[in-house]
Amino acid sequence: MVKKTAIYPGSFDPVTKGHLDIIERSARIFDRVVVAVLENGAKIPSFTFGERVEMLKTAARGFPNVEVKSFDGLLVDFVRRENASVIVKGLRAVSDFEYEFQMALLNRKIAPEIETMFLTTSDKYCFLSSSIVRDIARHGGNLDEFVPAELVDYIREKLSKS
Ligand code: PNS
Repeated sequence: MVKKTAIYPGSFDPVTKGHLDIIERSARIFDRVVVAVLENGAKIPSFTFGERVEMLKTAARGFPNVEVKSFDGLLVDFVRRENASVIVKGLRAVSDFEYEFQMALLNRKIAPEIETMFLTTSDKYCFLSSSIVRDIARHGGNLDEFVPAELVDYIREKLSKS
């Protein structure tokens, strides 16, 4: 049987419970899920890519078919290197759609054999984003609802210094 691999790409700056929700849903659908952390995006991240990868590894520890890797360059090149054929993205609200639709069409243009699949985020997390988490952490707010329990202290300490 051919194993179906999906790539879940993002900046994950930092990982949130919303991301983890998509990882969990993908892990139920695909044989193998590779969470792909963008090393050098257009935005300057608050966490280094090494820190973002480590946080994701901690958060995704309970899923035996999930791996965490980093990538640079074009996403579709990474997808091909991993022998995958599907990109998974989470959709929270209509506001995500335009940007995600544009990326999906662009990726199809340069790699027609790769499909993008959108998974609907749990309604509990449809307001949540990494930038909201960074904001709450910087102002000393409670992160319990927003990031995986084992990362709350690390993220708060790291961002309260920035
Ligand atoms: O979490 P983000 O920041 O919305 O993730 C965006 C990401 C990493 C999926 C996107 O920026 C990306 O795929 N970058 C890699 C470069 C690339 O392939 N660009 C062309 C497609 S947009």
